[in-house]
Amino acid sequence: MDSAKMNTPPRTRARLRPLRAADLPRVVELEVEMFGPSAWTYGMLAEELGGLGRWYIAAEEIRDDRPGPGDIVGYAGLWFDGEITQIMTLGVAPRAQHCGIGSQMLGALIDRSRELGASAILLEVAVNNAAALGMYEKYGFARLGLRKRYYQPEDVDAYTMRLDLTAVDTAVDSVAETA
Ligand SMILES: CC(C)(COP(=O)(O)OP(=O)(O)OC[C@H]1O[C@@H](n2cnc3c(N)ncnc32)[C@H](O)[C@@H]1OP(=O)(O)O)[C@@H](O)C(=O)NCCC(=O)NCCS
Repeated sequence: MDSAKMNTPPRTRARLRPLRAADLPRVVELEVEMFGPSAWTYGMLAEELGGLGRWYIAAEEIRDDRPGPGDIVGYAGLWFDGEITQIMTLGVAPRAQHCGIGSQMLGALIDRSRELGASAILLEVAVNNAAALGMYEKYGFARLGLRKRYYQPEDVDAYTMRLDLTAVDTAVDSVAETA
């Protein structure tokens, strides 16, 4: 085996399933790891999960050497208001990033939005979050505007982004085929 192969960590794989209340202690840990001072608390997450029109998923790690339920390495959720969906959160544990799990969850949110009959998907993303901006742009989201000082206490601006579901079937399908 060549040395480059030996040093490459195995790519984390995950299956998606509904996020449950019992998962929230792990999600709180990941929130702090990923979002620091603006992490959602247990109470905020519990309220979100039970909120009207919410749909939350967990990405559960698949380990060939350990059968049974795996560690939660990501989660995401949306809110459907009857017309459009809003991505409320989406995150992948740092140790499992760059393995396609963010894309896997974003694809599921887009599919769900279509099933619900949403005409578009909206989200906010920090202007300095290159990874998330790259992912959303890859899936066809376009920048709509800027919300000044949206993220507190970090005091960081957010772009609002939108994916038009009435016009992008071909673009998103072609990303899904190559992912
Ligand atoms: C943003 C995030 C969800 C991406 O998840 P991921 O599983 O690492 O992403 P994927 O492996 O599916 O990569 C999808 C695309 O995202 C973009 N991307 C991912 N990481 C990137 C990085 N570090 N820099 C630039 N672009 C990046 C690329 O376009 C990539 O496509 P490619 O692999 O063909 O180049 C992840 O970095 C994360 O959880 N960050 C912390 C939480 C967060 O910022 N959430 C978003 C809030 S709006």
